[in-house]
Amino acid sequence: MLVAEWIEQVRAWRGHVTGSVGFVPTMGYLHAGHLELVRRARHENDAEAVSIFVNPLQFGPGEDFARYPRDLECDLRLLQDERVDLVFAPEVVEIYPPGFSTVVDVGSIGQRLEGASRPGHFRGVATVVTKLFMVVQPHRAYFGWKDAQQVAVIRKLVADLAIPVEIVAVPTVREEDGLAYSSRNIYLSPEERRAAPALYAALTHARVLWQEGERDAERLRQAVYARLAEEPLIRVDYVSVADAGTMEELAVADRPAVLSLAAWLGTTRLIDAVLLGAE
Ligand code: PAF
Repeated sequence: MLVAEWIEQVRAWRGHVTGSVGFVPTMGYLHAGHLELVRRARHENDAEAVSIFVNPLQFGPGEDFARYPRDLECDLRLLQDERVDLVFAPEVVEIYPPGFSTVVDVGSIGQRLEGASRPGHFRGVATVVTKLFMVVQPHRAYFGWKDAQQVAVIRKLVADLAIPVEIVAVPTVREEDGLAYSSRNIYLSPEERRAAPALYAALTHARVLWQEGERDAERLRQAVYARLAEEPLIRVDYVSVADAGTMEELAVADRPAVLSLAAWLGTTRLIDAVLLGAE
């Protein structure tokens, strides 16, 4: 496994690879959800690259950039065990050298939901992912459905900019009690961790209603709110039923949709999502 810190090292590696390249961009502190992406990429491609980069551009002022968990040594061990070919783990200055000023902004799809709660977040995601795609030049790139809006944003950016990368969205990996794996779960106190499975339980409850034929999106949202109201440690940011392609809020959930939420447990903000008829 080659561990590269510099763009030139990645380009040199890429120049020698024959066959398809699968790519998993991450911010490190890898968990079972990341490893699922890594395995899928391994299975579907001849060579595999993973990036580890905590991207300052996608964190707002007052967010958790400085305290975001990092453990490069452990990440590298896990990726070695998965037989990854290349890990790109640059310093901030390699991605954003002095004078860097170009950004990628996907417009309204990135301004709703997470984009509304975290202004500039998707500009940061789109900018770094575009740069990583230019450096690694993968055939396929892998993202988790938990970040459903991120999937939609990245699909939009590769379509708009004609970047020849297939975006593969992979089902969310969950702990036994339903909590989606996230690097931020580490922040939860024991009480908050006990309350956190209510997030997925609320989504599942509304999805069952949808499976039983409920198509009124507001009733589905209200069903999620009502379940979450039973858990005093949870403070809801938003609940959304949105078109899976555009992330526009729906009045009627009669097409592939994403049912998603963001909520605070203490000082930790978690997101989760399930699909309603979307692949
Ligand atoms: O999902 C993430 O971990 C990040 O948003 C990503 C895609 C690696 C970009 O920094």
